[in-house]
Amino acid sequence: MIKPHVIVLGNEKGGSGKSTTAMHIIVSLLQAGLSVAAIDLDGRQKSLARYIENRQSFAVKHGLNLLVPSIDVLQDIDEATDKAAFAAVFDKVSVAQVVVIDCPGRDSVLSREAHGHADTLITPMNDSFVDLDLLATIDPETFKVIKPSFYAELIWKCRQERARRDKGNVDWVVLRTRLSHLEAKNMRRVGAALTELAKRIGFRVLPGLSERVVYREMFLKGLTLIDLRDVAKTGESMTMSHVAARQELRDLVTALKIPCMATEHSAMAQTS
Ligand SMILES: Nc1ncnc2c1ncn2[C@@H]1O[C@H](COP(=O)(O)OP(=O)(O)O)[C@@H](O)[C@H]1O
Ligand SMILES: [Mg+2]
Repeated sequence: MIKPHVIVLGNEKGGSGKSTTAMHIIVSLLQAGLSVAAIDLDGRQKSLARYIENRQSFAVKHGLNLLVPSIDVLQDIDEATDKAAFAAVFDKVSVAQVVVIDCPGRDSVLSREAHGHADTLITPMNDSFVDLDLLATIDPETFKVIKPSFYAELIWKCRQERARRDKGNVDWVVLRTRLSHLEAKNMRRVGAALTELAKRIGFRVLPGLSERVVYREMFLKGLTLIDLRDVAKTGESMTMSHVAARQELRDLVTALKIPCMATEHSAMAQTS
């Protein structure tokens, strides 16, 4: 059996856009013709699972043919149970080409298991030193990186373990999400610290989803930016801002360089 490509959304902070980004990536990959299995490890909030359930309900209600991934939800119980439950679910969904795992915004056994299986690890962060603090301690005078954080050390260990287990690499991508154009100076400083840190602890920095009200509104209907044109008959409309946002999302998914996506594209190009 071919191993799926595993995308993990993780950081140790709530509200940075993990679940919203996960859903947009999932629907983008489904749209590209890939089979996708989703796993929600935030058994308390279940944001991703609820997003997907809302999508199913909306599709049924309006007779729409929306692409929906499979979804499994896991809850924290105790270390042995969580490890066994993760392994069982992971094994079950490994028939999909891509597995997308959404982690809670805190350290947990389930979250560590997921990080240990990542091929692509996506860490969305807002552009502030509060969020950057999750990756490293920054000098308040010089804005230089003093030392990597607990989370960065966790990724370091996951990478070592992964290399030992199957010589695999983890492509760690830090997404600068919800960039606000009002704070140019802060953005530059965070950007400089991130560039320094990226070299030091080994991640790529990509622009994530920008701040738009539409991301908050679509959750209840389970929709993503990718769907808006196709669901026009339900009263949704596509504005210029949505078109720009869709392009940002496309650029992001391309920049993630998911290996099976390249194969799918070349297969599509050959048949068209
Ligand atoms: N790009 C964005 N623009 C505006 N609101 C956003 C954006 N991304 C996420 N949100 C909103 O911020 C809140 C937290 O996002 P969520 O994806 O649940 O974060 P996390 O999974 O990291 O806790 C939600 O209300 C969500 O709708
Ligand atoms: Mg979440």
